[in-house]
Amino acid sequence: MASIATTHKVFLLGATGGIGSQVLKRLLDRGCKVTIIVRNTERLSTEMKDHPSLTVIEEPSGHLSLTDETFQKHVQCDAIVQCLGHNLSFKGLFGHPRRLCADTVKRLCDAVMVVAPRNPIKLIVINTEGVERPDGEDRKTLRRGCCELCVLCFLKYCLLSHADNIDTLVYLHNEVQNNPYVDFCAVRPSDLIDGLPTEFTVHETLQNGIFNSGTTLRSNVGEFMANLVTDSGVWNKWKNTYPHILDVKTAEHDHRGGTTNSNTADDAGNEKKDR
Ligand SMILES: NC(=O)c1ccc[n+]([C@@H]2O[C@H](COP(=O)([O-])OP(=O)(O)OC[C@H]3O[C@@H](n4cnc5c(N)ncnc54)[C@H](OP(=O)(O)O)[C@@H]3O)[C@@H](O)[C@H]2O)c1
Repeated sequence: MASIATTHKVFLLGATGGIGSQVLKRLLDRGCKVTIIVRNTERLSTEMKDHPSLTVIEEPSGHLSLTDETFQKHVQCDAIVQCLGHNLSFKGLFGHPRRLCADTVKRLCDAVMVVAPRNPIKLIVINTEGVERPDGEDRKTLRRGCCELCVLCFLKYCLLSHADNIDTLVYLHNEVQNNPYVDFCAVRPSDLIDGLPTEFTVHETLQNGIFNSGTTLRSNVGEFMANLVTDSGVWNKWKNTYPHILDVKTAEHDHRGGTTNSNTADDAGNEKKDR
């Protein structure tokens, strides 16, 4: 079972999104003190909005419009969780900020450098299985075909959100690995779906390509990211890595191995941990 600590201070970006809202709910349930910056408070559920452990900062222009000093104030915490993603609209996909995720990670890391905390801050970032580990380790478990490589190359040059996810991983690999004040974890889900949490597995390298992808429930991503914040065992296992997270369909169908999290939901929709 996750070791629950009531004192975790967490700075969360993307809290109004599908994954961010799942992370936020779990962090608050586990007693964390959470600060979020959102563009529109109305996109938060009433239950979340009024939670006594939540500090909400509304900035309609987005957090990237805030000053470096504001970033430096908010990164004084135990963990930063970044669940941002380009909205699936014309403006979200083709407008500014074009490097929403990569620029945010850079601003956060620059701010942490200035603050120079005594212990490294956890930086937990959402990414995608469409992006390979910059150290090439994914090739141990995945050989992409020519067709898939062509599609990914096309996406890199034509889809801002994909290029942004690539830049984010490259930044984490090249810069944050050498930053003494930050440890990171870049979580890579498969095709995202909504629904109640199930068992899931977590792998050091990619288990499938984009043409034979699995699924990953946003609730499972939320659970894993919250575990990274509150469970030191989970964090120590996955820090400075790029885990691929996949749903387990049924126990019989899980031939993939990896680290399994047993997490089922009862009929009333309340989550129930098996261990
Ligand atoms: N779709 C997939 O199958 C898939 C698979 C693997 C990985 N991923 C990755 O996972 C990411 C997150 O997924 P999700 O389902 O949680 O996404 P989502 O529901 O669209 O959430 C995106 C979050 O980012 C915020 N955001 C967007 N543009 C912003 C801006 N300019 N400034 C500040 N905040 C901004 C949104 O805020 P607002 O509420 O204000 O819009 C929202 O909180 C995806 O974007 C992608 O990179 C996706």
